[in-house]
Amino acid sequence: MKRRNFFKSIIGAAGALYFNPVVEGAESSLYHLKLGYKDWNKSKKWGITSPDNAAWKKLRKQFLIPSRYTYLNTGGLGASPVPVINRVLRVMENEETYPSPSHDEDNSLKIKEKIATFLGPGVKPEHIAFTSTATEGINIIINGLPFENGDEIITSSHEHVAMEIPLLHHIKKNGIIVKMFEPDLNNAKANVERIERLITPRTRLIFISHVTCSTGQVFPVSTIGNLARSRNILFALDGAQSVGQLPFNIADTNADFYVFSGHKWLLGPKRTGILYVNPRQISLLSPSIVGAFSSSSHDLWKNKLELHPTASKFEYGTRNNALIEGLEEAFDFISTIGISNIWNHNRFLAELFLKEIKKMPRIRILSPVEEEYRSSLITFKVDGVEIEKLTSLLMRDQIRCRLVSEAGLNAIRVSFHVYNGENDLYKLVKLMKDFTYKI
Ligand SMILES: Cc1ncc(COP(=O)(O)O)c(C=O)c1O
Repeated sequence: MKRRNFFKSIIGAAGALYFNPVVEGAESSLYHLKLGYKDWNKSKKWGITSPDNAAWKKLRKQFLIPSRYTYLNTGGLGASPVPVINRVLRVMENEETYPSPSHDEDNSLKIKEKIATFLGPGVKPEHIAFTSTATEGINIIINGLPFENGDEIITSSHEHVAMEIPLLHHIKKNGIIVKMFEPDLNNAKANVERIERLITPRTRLIFISHVTCSTGQVFPVSTIGNLARSRNILFALDGAQSVGQLPFNIADTNADFYVFSGHKWLLGPKRTGILYVNPRQISLLSPSIVGAFSSSSHDLWKNKLELHPTASKFEYGTRNNALIEGLEEAFDFISTIGISNIWNHNRFLAELFLKEIKKMPRIRILSPVEEEYRSSLITFKVDGVEIEKLTSLLMRDQIRCRLVSEAGLNAIRVSFHVYNGENDLYKLVKLMKDFTYKI
């Protein structure tokens, strides 16, 4: 692109966002919309109940995604709704209009209180630290626990690189041993036995995804957490694919540590995340990066440092208030719709999609066999076809899915979220039908 056009396109995009009255209007008139949902949880028959389309169509207007663009990759990155975008813009505008190097602890406490409530009973603001990403949270855990040479960590072979690379780094640096199990996609409970078989007296940590990014499998985390506790092993969960996607509370998972991103299913601003540390483990986990705001007191003359006795010890340096407030707005947005409504809407689409692709030739479904352990992420392969061929065909029609290279699966993953409807689903199904019948 020529330099002049490049600037023109940037100014065009930013200008449209900032001055477009539709964006402002949408927020005030639609944001607090009551969705009036049936409780689909009561009906297990996904094929019979259907979304209340009128309400979801109104909700769809909260997003800038053009109707011709079928975005099915929330598992990669969520699209923020208008209220979140506006909050980020407003906070940034205010900070740039009245610059003041302030660090508002009261505001951050208020936001943490909201997040703690979202995460369920027993979670308090002091158990929560703001991070930039789930990756940062994973690194804080792996680098901050007092492992010794030869200590063992159990994980699955379906983890994201955000977990694999910090583990490999630690293996090379500190001589820990990583043991992996292959997730059982036919029988979720068998994963508990697979983990149990890997436990030895040197096992210190079990660290897995709550929902895998590869096939969308929901692990039976509360049973795995119970197993870990009964053997005196720490239990950490990567919730990048779960928070904002499914209803749960942290206490039920029995997790000592839980990390997640704000920019996927929560639809928050990019580069936001949360680390949760169970208070029983707060003194065990040592921060690897510290700085301004990590401590309650310090004196270099006296060689004295007292880190916060809370998860705030993992925070350091200047905050991006616009992103943090945008994250608060995202939690408000998700809570207003209701996490059960979101789960039911997305699962409805996921099950409908499965039903449709099961009819097609050559399709091999990789998502779990048991419905109870499936999520709003569906992964499949087309036998005898290079998957890149299908994804580039889909891209040509503005359908965005994700290639799954994890564990060498070489498959396609489709994620359904609140901005998707049956129109997106049938657009994809039609193209896939044309493709699979023509091979
Ligand atoms: C399971 C899982 N963990 C971690 C990550 C990385 O998240 P972040 O970009 O917030 O570090 C992803 C991203 O797709 C993921 O799917």
